Amino acid sequence: MPARHLSVGQVAERSGLPISTLHFYERKGLIVSTRNSANHRVYRREVLRRVTVIKVAQNAGVPLSEIAEALSSLPTHSVPSTEDWARMSEVWHDDLTRRIETLTALRDKMSMCIGCGCLSVKRCPLVNENDHLAGEGPGARLL
Ligand code: FES
Repeated sequence: MPARHLSVGQVAERSGLPISTLHFYERKGLIVSTRNSANHRVYRREVLRRVTVIKVAQNAGVPLSEIAEALSSLPTHSVPSTEDWARMSEVWHDDLTRRIETLTALRDKMSMCIGCGCLSVKRCPLVNENDHLAGEGPGARLL
């Protein structure tokens, strides 16, 4: 029967993540550890599935804050169930679709710029003509 708890090194080895990343996840509240009798940090075996969910979501471009929010709805030591993962991935799928559409539109506009370099307010689709994007909020709106 496999050990119920894993050291941080074992979790790093099994997950392929650096120990520093696991500590970072813990500081962000994504995973939790306890201390064993020797006062070493240990993780319940279920942490491997949580780490997998975090990695998959990060690879899909989901911000860590959103991952933390999704995982916060689960009990601290629980493994995301099939239903949990289905619910989270559905939300993230919609976000991913929106990001892909935005980036596709940006790519299509940018294709006009290849080899041009004019950055013309009148001609370039990437230039914010008359600051028309100001109403969409602060920061870069096209990139
Ligand atoms: S740089 Fe010339 S059209 Fe964008």
